Amino acid sequence: MNESDPHDHQLRVSKIRNGTVIDHVAGGQALNVLAILGIDGAGGESVSIGMNVPSDRLGKKDIVKVEDRELSQSEVDVLSLIAPEATINIVREFEVVDKLRVERPERVVGVLSCPNRNCISNANEPVDSKFDVVDDGVRCVYCGAIVREDIADHLSVA
Ligand code: CTP
Ligand code: ZN
Repeated sequence: MNESDPHDHQLRVSKIRNGTVIDHVAGGQALNVLAILGIDGAGGESVSIGMNVPSDRLGKKDIVKVEDRELSQSEVDVLSLIAPEATINIVREFEVVDKLRVERPERVVGVLSCPNRNCISNANEPVDSKFDVVDDGVRCVYCGAIVREDIADHLSVA
């Protein structure tokens, strides 16, 4: 059913001409999606957000539409950690030309920062942060620190 209301069939968020629609995001995670994409409004991007809109599949979902922007693989990898059910729709001239499911990566490199201040990845050394994706979160490859919740708070890109 997407973001249309089954009773009045009205779109809550209008269609976009070109860009990316991140659909089926867990309810309440839209602002974290924006953080992962590094969008805070200052860059001037056109962004539409629906939060906690009705969804057949998820009950409630968030949806984020970013115009004139396609996502990098590392952005998609991190998205999968907070929005494992997300669908990424690439839109060109109003048509969905590609629809991707996010996949949980085995490792994320360079996008999260380690919560352990003594970790080598925080020592101003030329070392990329590296986290293995484990069942209950992500684990720093260098020091073993685990981030379980609020992964978006540990973004080094935000
Ligand atoms: N969408 C949009 N602008 C467009 C085309 C699509 O904002 N020009 C949005 C739709 O509103 C929808 C999502 O992109 O939220 C996916 O569109 P589409 O594939 O047409 O919908 P469904 O087939 O229902 O998607 P799914 O099967 O993934 O639920
Ligand atoms: Zn560490």
